[in-house]
Amino acid sequence: MLEHEAESGARIESPVDPRVNFITLAVADVGASRKFYVDGLGWQPAFEAPGEVVFIRLSPTLVLSLWSAAGFEAEVGPLGPRAGHPPFTLAHNVPARELVDEALAAARAAGATILEPAAQRDWGGYSGYFTDPDGFAWEVAYNPGAVGVALMEAVAAEAEPTAEPTAVDVIRTRRSVPQAKLTGGPALDHREVVAAVESARWAPNHKRTEPWRFYLLDDERIARLAGLWGEQLERTGSKPERVEAKRRDWAGVPGVLVVTCTSAEGAEETTRREDYAAVACAVQNLCLHLWSKGIATKWSTATVTEHEGFWPLLGHERAPDGTRVVALIFYGLAEEPPKPHRKLPVEHVLVDHRHGAG
Ligand SMILES: Cc1cc2nc3c(=O)[nH]c(=O)nc-3n(C[C@H](O)[C@H](O)[C@H](O)COP(=O)(O)O)c2cc1C
Repeated sequence: MLEHEAESGARIESPVDPRVNFITLAVADVGASRKFYVDGLGWQPAFEAPGEVVFIRLSPTLVLSLWSAAGFEAEVGPLGPRAGHPPFTLAHNVPARELVDEALAAARAAGATILEPAAQRDWGGYSGYFTDPDGFAWEVAYNPGAVGVALMEAVAAEAEPTAEPTAVDVIRTRRSVPQAKLTGGPALDHREVVAAVESARWAPNHKRTEPWRFYLLDDERIARLAGLWGEQLERTGSKPERVEAKRRDWAGVPGVLVVTCTSAEGAEETTRREDYAAVACAVQNLCLHLWSKGIATKWSTATVTEHEGFWPLLGHERAPDGTRVVALIFYGLAEEPPKPHRKLPVEHVLVDHRHGAG
């Protein structure tokens, strides 16, 4: 049962909500109609069966179907007598008077017959009519009334790319961006990271342990962290060039957030694992939140955490009880759009018993 608002504001339930999804015109020659609408007006077919039917998507929810009269009659029954114009018009509204003249000229150039030239109308608007190859009448109208204006606003809003990407878009476009490709500048708002932590803490967590803790580093601490990582790499035998490159890349990163996981004293191994998993979910929430705002991230588990200077950097003498580091999140603006890379297609990683796989 669908609901819609009556003008009074009361909700009316109806199994048929007020909308039109297809307008089907029975046409004598689908090829001729195609020539007019597709080749002439430049409208794109969404589907076609040559000689039988052409679908043109007029909006996300409305399709114009140009169906051969034979096909139409076979399904709907015989067409009525064709004297004069069919007793309805289709209308293409435009947001300004001069655009009526422009659209009529374009229709004429596409092969339309001008039925009624554009004129000021008694109802307050300005419109003209053309007919398509079958004599279906289209009105091109500028309607300055409230309904006409609202309609044009809706058309303009529909044409605008959606400001906010969907959750699925964000999930699928997020990519790790290496430290060396993260830049800062005035466009990078570090307060967004605090908002992202707010999103992070809504991650699922078993027994509601909320085991995550976050440390947002300032520039001085980022420089110290880079130094510690250089030292740690030297101690573990990295080549001097690598040490220098890493130190430079880390020191140049505009932002770093350290995410840790703390389990309760005496927590069982299962709980510790679940806590770690929950923090991993929180980290992904955080990265997705940032990416939705145009801020790229890189998750690192570098062993800088083993350097004795690491915990003092966060403000602790040593690791708090039951605490481990889950992620060093480097963030900034991506110098170039990250490239997608996945080796395994969904069929490889999903055993789909619902849709018939082995
Ligand atoms: C738990 C975890 C630890 C990671 N540690 C590192 C790391 O230490 N260094 C690194 O370069 N990338 C690290 N990454 C990032 C992965 O390399 C990256 O996610 C992977 O290449 C997939 O790329 P994508 O994030 O762009 O999809 C880590 C990712 C996860 C989930």
